[in-house]
Amino acid sequence: MKKLLSIFTMLLLASLSLFAKATIVGIAMPETHVLRWTKDGESLKKEAEKRGYSGLVQYGNADQAQQNQQIQSFLTQGAKILIIGNINDGVTSVVEEAARDKAVVVAYDRIIQGTTNYSAFITFNNYKVGTLQGQGIEKALNLPAATTAAPKYITLFAGSPTDANANFFYQGAMDVLNPYLKKGVLKVVGPYPETYKDTSNFQKIATENWSGPLAKTRLENLLNNDASKITLDAVLAPNDTLGRAIIEACKADAKYRSKLPVVTGQDAEFDSAVSIKNGEQYMTVFKDTAKLAEAAVILADALAKGEKPNIPGAILADGDLKEIGYTGTGYVATYLLDPIGITKENVNVPVDAGFYTAEETAKLK
Ligand code: BGC
Repeated sequence: MKKLLSIFTMLLLASLSLFAKATIVGIAMPETHVLRWTKDGESLKKEAEKRGYSGLVQYGNADQAQQNQQIQSFLTQGAKILIIGNINDGVTSVVEEAARDKAVVVAYDRIIQGTTNYSAFITFNNYKVGTLQGQGIEKALNLPAATTAAPKYITLFAGSPTDANANFFYQGAMDVLNPYLKKGVLKVVGPYPETYKDTSNFQKIATENWSGPLAKTRLENLLNNDASKITLDAVLAPNDTLGRAIIEACKADAKYRSKLPVVTGQDAEFDSAVSIKNGEQYMTVFKDTAKLAEAAVILADALAKGEKPNIPGAILADGDLKEIGYTGTGYVATYLLDPIGITKENVNVPVDAGFYTAEETAKLK
């Protein structure tokens, strides 16, 4: 009888574990008009499922209210882990809710501002992203040899004013370019915030929700007004979506038809890789989002199990980089991956990393 009972208990346990639902990881990505996020969403789901979780993905359409509903719905469905690429600090209220539910919350790529009541932040070294953009312009225009008699001209664009990443991208670039501006060998056409902390000027060059059409219109206006009497040598563009919008605006202007200004970018989007290969966009910054997704899930998984995270390829933001983890109310544990600058010379790097589909890869070879 005893034996029968224990066999019965074993069978019962086995069938229960068969039907036990996998822990849900809620993956909330901010938008789809910037291509990378679709890839991020897919990679995060894959990495979560590899580790036995059930991954649910939603995209917020650059609308924080919409994303908050998506996150709430993850919590209602019992999500124990949330991986969030937020839109703006309106996300704070649902993050507080998740904290009350004892869910592990990882801020993904973009810091969650206005609270420290969450587990961790994982991103790339965003200051270095900007440095690489600034250095790209410095090299392409040979700024060390530029003179005040024949200065170079640049126009500045920044990312979304609600995305703290935009500040670091800008600061990284300007810390390279400001010395040339001070010397007068480089001149800004349009507003010139020396740092992102000059909020009134920074607002003028920032691009709400990273919108390509907004950047395009701003440059068109500039080309017809402030920049009508000079030729731009460079445009600082914080990402590929804006970089390509800027190139489009330039191409519509006869002055730039045979020679485009040096235009930067970030994300190594396929269309930009093609543009770089064809000698249009000058550079981009490759952030391997497949690696970021893997790192984020390793991090969340360790935190959920109460273990110390060991994330290959990531460093803890410390020293000068500590500010990347500042939420406005305090610091969160912040892990950084390393970005890589890409020009025509090394456009094979994201290709060889398997960043593109087979079809895209064939076009880039
Ligand atoms: C990301 C960039 C992206 C931009 C627009 C930033 O927070 O770090 O990779 O291009 O948002 O989506």
